[in-house]
Amino acid sequence: MEITEKAYAKLNLSLDVTGKRPDGYHDLVMVMASVELCDDVTVSLRRDGAVTAESSLPWLPRDERNLGVKAARAYFAALGEDGLGAEIRMVKRIPVGAGMAGGSTDAAAVLRALDRLTGADLGEDRLREIALSVGSDVPYCVSGGMALAKGRGEILSPLPELPACHVVICKPSFSVSTPDLFRQIDARAIRTRPDTAGLTAALERGDLAGVARRMYNVFEDVLPRSGGEIGAIRGKLLDSGALGAIMTGTGSAVFGLFDRRETAEKAHAALAGEYRDCFLTRPAGRIGRGETGAGHDG
Ligand code: C5P
Repeated sequence: MEITEKAYAKLNLSLDVTGKRPDGYHDLVMVMASVELCDDVTVSLRRDGAVTAESSLPWLPRDERNLGVKAARAYFAALGEDGLGAEIRMVKRIPVGAGMAGGSTDAAAVLRALDRLTGADLGEDRLREIALSVGSDVPYCVSGGMALAKGRGEILSPLPELPACHVVICKPSFSVSTPDLFRQIDARAIRTRPDTAGLTAALERGDLAGVARRMYNVFEDVLPRSGGEIGAIRGKLLDSGALGAIMTGTGSAVFGLFDRRETAEKAHAALAGEYRDCFLTRPAGRIGRGETGAGHDG
C-alpha cells in the first residue's frame, strides 16, 4: 500500500526575530499561512529497514540531508521500530531555497503518511514533537493553515483563516541559505518590527487589506540583495495592485496578496515573463479538518 500526501507550501505573513537563544537558535514570532501550491509526497513501507527517496529534482540529496528521509528515520525511532523502512517519492513544485518550507513540508507529509501506513496514529502533538527533531518549520507543517508560531517555530496557536484572496509568488534567480541569513541577523539591532498584534487583529476582523498592509519580515533588511531583485519584485507586485507584498521566511521568494483574481492573473503574467519560478495560488486551510481551500474564485 502507498499513500500520497499533499505537502503545502508555507508563507510568512510576518516574521520577527526577538532574540538569540543559548541553544544557538533564534526566538521567532511569525504569522504562518499555507497555500495550495504543493509537492506530492508518496510513501510506502519497507520491511528491510531501508529509507529511500527520489524526487522530480534529480539533484536533491537522497540521504539524511533530505528532510523526508530524516523524518522517516525519526518516526521509526520514536516508534521503536528498527525493522521498518520507507520508500519516498516526491513530485516537487515548491521552489528550493525560497523560504517556503519546501523541505519541511515534505518531511511533515512523510510523518503524516507513515502515521497512517503504520496505523500508529500518534496524534498531532506527538507528530509535532518528532517533527521538531527534523527541523524548526516541520511542526507547523504537520497541520499547516493559519498559525502564530513562537519559540524556534514550534510553539503554535491557530489563527483565523485568511479572507478569500489570491496569492502571487515569485522567486528571484538566486536562492538563500537559511543558516547564513540567521548568522547575519542581530536581534538587538532590528529597528523596524512587524505589528504582529495588529496583523492578528486584522485577521480576526476578516480585514484582508488590514492584514496585507501589516505584513513585514525583518530579514528583508538583512539580505544584501533586498534592494535589488527582491525590491524589484515587491515593487512590481504592488504596482500591479497587490494589497501588500513581502519576502517569505529567509527568502528569496516574494509574494503579494490580491483581492481580485484578474488583478492577480495580470501580476502573475507580468512577472512570469521575467522569472522562471512564478505561481498564482490561494490560501489552503489546515490539514485534517476536511478542507483544503480557504479561498474562493472570483
Ligand atoms: O531547524 P532548522 O534545521 O530548520 O534550522 C536551520 C537553521 O536556521 C539553523 O541551523 C539555525 O541556524 C537557523 N534557525 C535559527 N532559529 C530558528 C530556526 C532556524 O537560528 N528558530
